[in-house]
Amino acid sequence: MTNTTDCLTLRRLSIADEPMLWTMLMHAAHESSLAAVHQQPLLRPYVEGWGRAGDLGWLAQHPAKTVGAAWCRCWTGSDQGYGYVDSTIPELAIAVLPPYCGQGIGSHLLAALLADARHRYTAISLSVRGDNPARQLYERFGFTAVKGSEVPNRVGGTSLTMRCPLASGQTIS
Ligand SMILES: CC(C)(COP(=O)(O)OP(=O)(O)OC[C@H]1O[C@@H](n2cnc3c(N)ncnc32)[C@H](O)[C@@H]1OP(=O)(O)O)[C@@H](O)C(=O)NCCC(=O)NCCS
Repeated sequence: MTNTTDCLTLRRLSIADEPMLWTMLMHAAHESSLAAVHQQPLLRPYVEGWGRAGDLGWLAQHPAKTVGAAWCRCWTGSDQGYGYVDSTIPELAIAVLPPYCGQGIGSHLLAALLADARHRYTAISLSVRGDNPARQLYERFGFTAVKGSEVPNRVGGTSLTMRCPLASGQTIS
């Protein structure tokens, strides 16, 4: 039997990947359509204008189909994501297409992104629903809940902010 990760390739995101990122954002935010994502002013800044200075991301292909992506960006001005900590700490977003979940792809993406981010940032944050099993994955990679960050979310549950220190972090201009 062929393991999914045997045919998996990872590559860095480019500006040209913005359309694909909207689809990944839809999955990451558990929305049912791209229209719903575009209608939400708090979701759009996770992808809009992808490719600005400091944006980092990776995508996974299997074998040629894009099946997942992990990306991060810092928040500027009045834009602040759900997992905002401060303007120097980028927020992570990640999604794997539903048929491909649970096969190690998210772990590969997260490892690639964190390795990259380590050269630029001192830490990375995210926002996750309290009942999302993805929380286990994040904890495995060193994310811990930011104290006092648990807040009601837009779907009636709670979400919390998690933060992962990036040990060898150094700022690259
Ligand atoms: C979260 C997500 C990116 C993880 O990618 P993945 O390829 O399923 O992850 P892996 O197979 O590498 O690792 C599985 C881990 O993710 C967790 N997980 C989260 N959602 C999962 C799902 N739908 N299916 C299987 N595992 C899932 C498991 O608990 C597991 O943790 P563990 O290995 O520590 O036990 C992916 O499941 C996904 O896109 N989920 C829907 C969107 C989402 O919730 N995004 C995160 C928003 S904060």
